[in-house]
Amino acid sequence: MSYDVIIIGSGPGGYVCAVKAAQLGLKVAVVEKRATYGGTCLNVGCIPSKALLHASEMYHHAAHGMDALGVELAAPKLNLAKMMAHKDATVRSNVEGVSFLFKKNKIDGIQGTGKILAAGKVEITNDKGETQVLETKNIIIATGSEVAGIPGVQVDIDEKVIVSSTGGIALDKVPAKMIVVGGGVIGLELGSVWSRLGAKVTVVEYLDSILGGMDGEVSKQFQRMLAKQGMEFNLGAKVTGVEKADKGAKVTFEPVKGGEAQTLEADIVLVATGRKPYTTGLGLEEAGVVLDNRGRVEIDGHFRTNVAGIYAIGDVVRGPMLAHKAEDEGVALAEILAGQHGHVNYDIIPGVVYTHPEVASVGKAEEELKAAGVAYKVGKFPFSANGRARAMLATDGFVKVLADKQTDRVLGVHIVGFGAGEMIHEAAVLMEFGGSSEDLGRTCHAHPTMSEAVKEAALATFFKPIHM
Ligand code: NAI
Repeated sequence: MSYDVIIIGSGPGGYVCAVKAAQLGLKVAVVEKRATYGGTCLNVGCIPSKALLHASEMYHHAAHGMDALGVELAAPKLNLAKMMAHKDATVRSNVEGVSFLFKKNKIDGIQGTGKILAAGKVEITNDKGETQVLETKNIIIATGSEVAGIPGVQVDIDEKVIVSSTGGIALDKVPAKMIVVGGGVIGLELGSVWSRLGAKVTVVEYLDSILGGMDGEVSKQFQRMLAKQGMEFNLGAKVTGVEKADKGAKVTFEPVKGGEAQTLEADIVLVATGRKPYTTGLGLEEAGVVLDNRGRVEIDGHFRTNVAGIYAIGDVVRGPMLAHKAEDEGVALAEILAGQHGHVNYDIIPGVVYTHPEVASVGKAEEELKAAGVAYKVGKFPFSANGRARAMLATDGFVKVLADKQTDRVLGVHIVGFGAGEMIHEAAVLMEFGGSSEDLGRTCHAHPTMSEAVKEAALATFFKPIHM
């Protein structure tokens, strides 16, 4: 049998592409080497980490956040095994959801490792070592990414003592001390999980700020909030060694600007220094598919590789390594293959850090506008002046709107605060429609909501906020 599309990889890029392509009438197969569908995101990434972020937040809230609301509780007891069981159940229901979608849309899910023999031919080897070759009009590479390790440093990640995010969501006890190498998204999300459960967490980050690339003001304020919660930071510090010690592991780092190296010990070291495209064993070299200098599959504006009939989407290609970016690319490519005009707007991809409080942004950071020489105006509004935030004791954080000085078109929105990851989407929709800060400020927002702070920040951008 010949397919219209064979997709290698069933993460958010691959499985969403499969569903969309099937909905558009194409005959689709998905090759997946894991036992379950969903890729890194559903199995060991976004979904399990959110289960732990939520559960650890509830634990912390029960211990520290209820008294002031007049709810007096005895000290909560942590049952880590049960928390992990909740995480596993969450993963199960999500990966089963993908199986259901495949069945519903008559997509053939094939367990095994896919290898491209040539355009139109995919060889699949299953767990038992049996192989089959399937034929197809189009092949889509959606193989995602893997842990990159620390550039230039030999680290033995055993997922027990020296862990990546995979081991970091599966510890069997709360470490007394944890060192996080890398103050990016994974480091701060998982660092806050274990910090809330009682670990003393120290972050060692190469750059002078956490969440590199994020709006500078947001990053600074957010770091202060995490520090208040008990996380420690060594910024401008380059990690040069991570090794097992008698008990736990030790991390050696030196100031980026030069100076003496120091070594810290901890029970667990989490290595969170980025991910790299995963193309091992895919047969790309033999098939003649070109990679760029960072190991990413090179594609054009329509997701085409240099070999006709072979496409790529998601973490394995350029752009932010985000599940929702991969999903949107999957949808756009399915549309293109079905003869439609699929498109992704890379200027408006929201980013969310699911800590407490959350950090969310869409569009340009202030630093990016400055560097590009764009004349802009800024409007800000703190949650401390928002009625709903006060009622919920969620006054930490603020909303910042950046708009073009001449046209008032919104160019970027940044939010630190409770629910930021939900609120950011009104900014994304506004920006998709080329809206201005006045459009946002004149849109009626329900009272009392946290979202009123978004409206007030927009009012502050084109004139003045009401409640400040
Ligand atoms: P990242 O790229 O976000 O952060 C890695 C950090 O490690 C950087 O700040 C970098 O400066 C630092 N670093 C690199 N080498 C170092 C060294 N020798 N010493 C000290 N620091 C060093 O990567 P992360 O957090 O591992 O995440 C991987 C990918 O997964 C990212 O693309 C991220 O966007 C994505 N992700 C997204 C999430 C979300 O959107 N909520 C959640 C988790 C991951």
